[in-house]
Amino acid sequence: GVSQLSRYTLDDIKRHNTLADAWTAIQGKVYNITPYLKFHPGGVKDLMRIAGKDGTRLFMLTHSWVNTDFMLDACMVGFLVPGRSSDD
Ligand code: HEM
Repeated sequence: GVSQLSRYTLDDIKRHNTLADAWTAIQGKVYNITPYLKFHPGGVKDLMRIAGKDGTRLFMLTHSWVNTDFMLDACMVGFLVPGRSSDD
């Protein structure tokens, strides 16, 4: 359940910017997008543009009608919170 999910900062997300370990944040939720890469209709390269970053703006520019809450539910790892790092 949601109560077991962690809180992450942008610094945390920055560490996950490779194909094998790609995280992004969309509208305050943090996702591990690695399992979704091969399914993205727009391809791996475009999806990797938001890896390691807050992808909200680019995602909303390209397809604001796509429901990430629903689609990426199983990929959600936590919530984005302000601040530099959750482990310092
Ligand atoms: C298409 C999901 C991120 C570029 C799509 C579609 C889905 C999707 C469901 C099909 C939409 C439709 O046909 O109505 C996602 C999810 C993302 C993501 C869940 C983030 C986790 C991105 C990003 C970009 C991008 C960051 C660009 C930098 C595209 C493009 C298409 C597309 C160009 C159209 C592909 C085509 O129809 O040929 N995406 N997307 N997507 N996406 Fe994404």
